[in-house]
Amino acid sequence: MGVARTPLIAGNWKMNLDHLQSIAFVQKLAWALRDAKHSFSDVEVAVFPPFTDLRSVQTLIAADKLELGHGAQDLSVHDSGAYTGEISGAFLSALACRYVIIGHSERRQYHHESDEVVAQKTVAALRHGLVPVVCVGETAEDLEAHGPSAVPVAQLQVVLDAISVDADVVVAYEPVWAIGSGQAATPEQAQQVCAALRAAIAEKLGEDAAARTRILYGGSVKSGNIAGFMNQKDVDGALVGGASLDVDEFSAIARFRQHVGTV
Ligand code: PGA
Repeated sequence: MGVARTPLIAGNWKMNLDHLQSIAFVQKLAWALRDAKHSFSDVEVAVFPPFTDLRSVQTLIAADKLELGHGAQDLSVHDSGAYTGEISGAFLSALACRYVIIGHSERRQYHHESDEVVAQKTVAALRHGLVPVVCVGETAEDLEAHGPSAVPVAQLQVVLDAISVDADVVVAYEPVWAIGSGQAATPEQAQQVCAALRAAIAEKLGEDAAARTRILYGGSVKSGNIAGFMNQKDVDGALVGGASLDVDEFSAIARFRQHVGTV
């Protein structure tokens, strides 16, 4: 029977909020969740600020003993050396990052990150004790040409080929057409692809890995639609972009248990 997977609500801030704004935001978020008596062991909440905010966020979380997690939005495939502008996974683990987003569609699109680079970054993250949040997803054209799960599954296969059976990874299914568009996938569409991704994990890494791995949905998630996604068997959380920049919205998304069953 089903293994209990702790849901993860992850806020991808993208290139928003400087380090001072990040401190104010995290403080407000922590207060909002505390006031709502949020149980972090029941639903994990993590923020993914820009690199320049990470030290401030880390310090605040440690000083105030907040249960929020934090992670970065990208990392280098390399550990150190002459790679101007790159950030090593070693630096991220030194800032107590738990997670790192890898292969977000904006990196794939604007920085031409291939599936192979995404796989290398996943391996780099694991090497530094970070949990990679590996993003996969199809464009509207892919959907038209190949159906819903072919492209995300193919993207994930390349990563699965590069990691070991016991690797701790999170997968995020983010249809490119749903990101920032206000046009979320339906819960059924999300479930269909997340189930296909889980089946791909089972085939490559075994049933235990498939049962343990959290698969998130991302793309225009809001407090008004989160419950529909979280009602799905293979959706274990959300990667939230725009709505993660609004304290009330994001904390309401994290408290989805209060609205599951209301849709
Ligand atoms: P969105 O972004 O919630 O603004 O659609 C999601 C993401 O890009 O991770």
